[in-house]
Amino acid sequence: MDPVTVFAPAKINLFLAVTGRRKDGYHDLVSVVAPLDFGDTLKFEPDGEGAFSLVSDDSELPCDDSNLILKAARLFRDRSGWAGGGRFMLQKRIPMGAGLGGGSSDAVAALKALNAAAGRPLDDGRLAELSAEIGSDCPLFFLSKPSVIRGRGERVERLPEAAGHRLSGRSLIVLKPTFAISTPWAYRTLAAAAPGSYLAVEAAEARLSGWLGDAAAPVESLLFNSFESPAFFKFPALPALLGELRERFGAAPLLSGSGSACFAFVPDEADPGAWTATIRAAWGPDVFVRKVRVA
Ligand code: C5P
Repeated sequence: MDPVTVFAPAKINLFLAVTGRRKDGYHDLVSVVAPLDFGDTLKFEPDGEGAFSLVSDDSELPCDDSNLILKAARLFRDRSGWAGGGRFMLQKRIPMGAGLGGGSSDAVAALKALNAAAGRPLDDGRLAELSAEIGSDCPLFFLSKPSVIRGRGERVERLPEAAGHRLSGRSLIVLKPTFAISTPWAYRTLAAAAPGSYLAVEAAEARLSGWLGDAAAPVESLLFNSFESPAFFKFPALPALLGELRERFGAAPLLSGSGSACFAFVPDEADPGAWTATIRAAWGPDVFVRKVRVA
């Protein structure tokens, strides 16, 4: 059987309103997400041995059973009845603990690669359902265009074409400090400050439809993230630098997901060197900085 290679894009959240806690312990949200032209690459080599293994070029990445790629592989085998196995090789580019969806995107890439290797026993709808069992952020990676997600993340809808055009191809700078933020911690902290920490679902939907309905509204008027409040309180280095980027570059930076990565839209001709110098001066030489585009 031939190897299969799948690109696993990173995502950003341009709008992320956590609207309340559900009976199952998860939170409902309304979020606008956009895949980036930057991400990981996952190669799968089927070997017919009936077991799965994972190697990565990133020595920090846990390649044991806790990795979502192997979790996805086990789930795929259980639900599809496919008896094969093989080796995954991950080129890791998306920083971890960043709110850029790296682990979830890798898991979806694994499902896509396995489905291809197995002769497509499951359709995309079924694969997306499976992926929701792996992580709330997984289903969004089945649409490769800017989308709105609702529920705990499983209701994914492509943005209307005209709105998608306002985002696709836009340049942005993504930056991440050397520390990570845990998603369960971020949700727990929001829940502890409830109800004031939630945005009412009506307010979230009104803000989203206001932006969708006004073709002249800049993307900056959509930007919002419920997690900025807990993340900025615990990690004051985030608002300190974002304030500086606002002043120096006239940018409107925002936290992505539950952090710790942030992003800012920039003109296509923006010089990433100037951004990198400013960000490194604040957060040190090991910070992640990259100029990318919305896919
Ligand atoms: O689904 P996932 O494993 O990515 O979620 C990690 C944790 O984040 C969950 O255990 C839950 O505490 C929290 N979460 C939430 N509401 C969501 C997504 C995640 O409360 N919509």
